[in-house]
Amino acid sequence: MVAFTSIAFAAAAIFGLTTAAPADPPYTGVTKEVIVGFTGANKGFAFEPNNVVAQPGDKMRFIFHPKNHSIVQSSFDEPCKPLEGGIFSGFNFATKEGPAPNVFEFKVKDTKPIWLYCSQTAGNHCQQGMVMVINSPFSPPKDINGYTALSKLTEVSTSPADIFTPIGGAIVAKNATKPWGY
Ligand SMILES: *[C@@H]1O[C@H](CO)[C@@H](O)[C@H](O)[C@H]1NC(C)=O
Ligand SMILES: *[C@@H]1O[C@H](CO)[C@@H](O)[C@H](O)[C@H]1NC(C)=O
Repeated sequence: MVAFTSIAFAAAAIFGLTTAAPADPPYTGVTKEVIVGFTGANKGFAFEPNNVVAQPGDKMRFIFHPKNHSIVQSSFDEPCKPLEGGIFSGFNFATKEGPAPNVFEFKVKDTKPIWLYCSQTAGNHCQQGMVMVINSPFSPPKDINGYTALSKLTEVSTSPADIFTPIGGAIVAKNATKPWGY
């Protein structure tokens, strides 16, 4: 019994160590692309896909289509409002036709949910359901449906103070191959 307990404690300690995600996990080689805005069959204010599962170290790449969108991280409880210190693309990808020449990328650091919205107020994109999640808890109402429903109840979206400066990610040319230095 004593031996079993100490083995359990040792296992817990090792498990704890190995599951604590490093601040900057190495790039896994996996890039997950998300289409932002109007394109082809997707005619709405939308992220496609809007429910992404990613591993720590995976890279997220956002490809912007018309018209003028942003990506902002919020909490689940307060959609359409920036989470302090959260990810922000800035309004740097306005395009009238076809994908913008640059994309926005960031690395997923851990498995915590990342709730994202478009903060464009002209047309109330967030209130129209232009929201998505990376690593949803999949426990209703804490999922994409619950987040979308909450976003529709908000009256107006806000952006971080400097609407052109990205936070927590990088603007890169679509054809750049080594944005993370690997
Ligand atoms: C994109 O939207 C932002 C925020 O509404 C605005 O400040 C910016 O001027 C717009 N850019 C273009 C090219 O329309
Ligand atoms: C990447 O694309 C930009 C414009 O989209 C172009 O100016 C540049 O030459 C391209 N770079 C490479 C390495 O193809």
